[in-house]
Amino acid sequence: CGIVGVLGDHEVAPILVEALKRLEYRGYDSAGIATVQNGALDRRRAVGKLVNLSDLLVHEPLPGKSGIGHTRWATHGGPSVANAHPHRTGRVAVVHNGIIENFRDLRDRLKGAVFESETDTETVAHLCESFLDDGMPPRMAAAETLKHLEGAFALAFLFEGEEDLIVAARKGSPLAIGHGDGEMFVGSDAIALSPMTNRITYLEEGDYAFVTRAGAEIFDAEGRRANRDLREISSKSAQIDKGGHRHFMVKEIFEQPTVLADCLTHYAPGDAVVIPEGSVDFSRTDRLILVACGTAHYACLVAKYWFEQLAGLPCDVDIASEFRYREPPVSEQAAALFVSQSGETADTLAALRYATGKAAHILSVVNVAESSIARESDLALPILAGVEVGVASTKAFLCQLGVLANLAILAARQKGRIDARREAELLHTLRSLPALINQSLALEDEIRRGTRALARAQTILFLGRGPMFPMALEGALKLKEISYIHAEGYASGELKHGPIALVDKTVPVVVLAPRDALFDKTISNMQEVMAREGRVWLVTDKPGAAAASDGVWKTLTMPQVDPIFAPLLYAVPAQLIAYHTALHKGTDVDQPRNLAKSVTVE
Ligand code: G6P
Repeated sequence: CGIVGVLGDHEVAPILVEALKRLEYRGYDSAGIATVQNGALDRRRAVGKLVNLSDLLVHEPLPGKSGIGHTRWATHGGPSVANAHPHRTGRVAVVHNGIIENFRDLRDRLKGAVFESETDTETVAHLCESFLDDGMPPRMAAAETLKHLEGAFALAFLFEGEEDLIVAARKGSPLAIGHGDGEMFVGSDAIALSPMTNRITYLEEGDYAFVTRAGAEIFDAEGRRANRDLREISSKSAQIDKGGHRHFMVKEIFEQPTVLADCLTHYAPGDAVVIPEGSVDFSRTDRLILVACGTAHYACLVAKYWFEQLAGLPCDVDIASEFRYREPPVSEQAAALFVSQSGETADTLAALRYATGKAAHILSVVNVAESSIARESDLALPILAGVEVGVASTKAFLCQLGVLANLAILAARQKGRIDARREAELLHTLRSLPALINQSLALEDEIRRGTRALARAQTILFLGRGPMFPMALEGALKLKEISYIHAEGYASGELKHGPIALVDKTVPVVVLAPRDALFDKTISNMQEVMAREGRVWLVTDKPGAAAASDGVWKTLTMPQVDPIFAPLLYAVPAQLIAYHTALHKGTDVDQPRNLAKSVTVE
């Protein structure tokens, strides 16, 4: 969820909605705003996308120069108006990101309170109201409320009768305070506030703040006055338009040659990898731990092949939500690397915090340079993909691979596994990719035609071996995310150990197989599918097509590239297959149901 607060010098409703637009990546199940005007609290809420709230505000405007707002990704209670934020009681309105873990206990203790929603957040409003009933002034009542809350959250409170006060609190979920001229702002991230101000103070863990138009008084978890830096953020107002494309997703797919080229040049302007800001030394690192969620996790799985094969560096790849609770041993010789487009994913952030103080290096690969994950790493490597709006990650994934490939080459050099000539060769291969990706984008029409049949399928399988195995996982994830068709990715060799039971003539099987050292083995697995009437769509290169197209349903012939970096190229057909299948199905490609671009709760 995303939260925002504004103490303005003119009407705040449009400012709140504009800021929420920038926070929609955190969820879009419902949205709402509350203001206080002439001392009175009021609110508007709507289910679904932000546009529904904007429409509501046209018919039922909400005046006021002080307000808070929220865009939701449902946790407790389905998406409904009653469950939408802000939650309010008589004198308090609250917006909240995160989870109040002890809300049931608190609810039980709040005898007499009438609850309108199923949310944990409403409990916060009632608790605060109960302290107001005890005679506490608003600031004290909010501070007292915070003492009783368990879990990870960010909160903003607005009070009846208080037009110059927002109480903001951070515990586990990030929160930024923006300083304007006689105006003050609160937001889940600095980007949300970027049209209003670039002067930002980040609250630290456990901090809370009394924000007024004159500034912010910040207190730490013990209630002591705290000084937090004011930073000037260099965020150019993020450009949010589709540039003539039908969806952000396809715009972002087509941006890939450009953003990847920029990313590669940034990390290797010549014949050697240069890590510009700070440095990292893999020579004494004996293990690399890669942790992420979703698509970023698949980027890590691809990178494992590179770090192990090029640098001889053993890698553990983990899903953040597993890593953080398994309490895995992390040696001082290990480096821990966290990959996240948003840099705000709650599970990944918690995993980073688990490794902090244990591993020798805490590295991150992020798209948002001012994000929490970037700020809490020893070295944050930007992927330079530009703002990614489509919920299904495409160009960020590709640029994550670009950075990870450079990092693996650096590790190989630092470990003495490659000489300068081999390094230059590998970089040359990487640099050839943007042009090859361009060529593969030209296959869009052919892919679109092929997906007509996929859109009718109930189940689709993706197969790959070696670094193409994680690409099979990514292809299946993309497809299920946006087309809602059940899809699974498998290591080609694993198919026979169970999933082959699914195969019959109704099951399309996409095989990602450039002609590499394992090609013949993958083709044998493909034959096993065809022997059971499975319909194979073989994505390969010219030599592969020449060797193995017999009997397959379709062959997509890709440009040829050194197999080690083929995953970057084969990302493109995987993305376009998902995109065009979804178009045939008529789903909401950029904002698919139930998902959020960045999940900021665990
Ligand atoms: C969400 C998105 C996924 C994304 C994952 C990790 O679940 O729906 O597309 O891959 O979060 O996000 P991150 O910002 O950490 O890369």
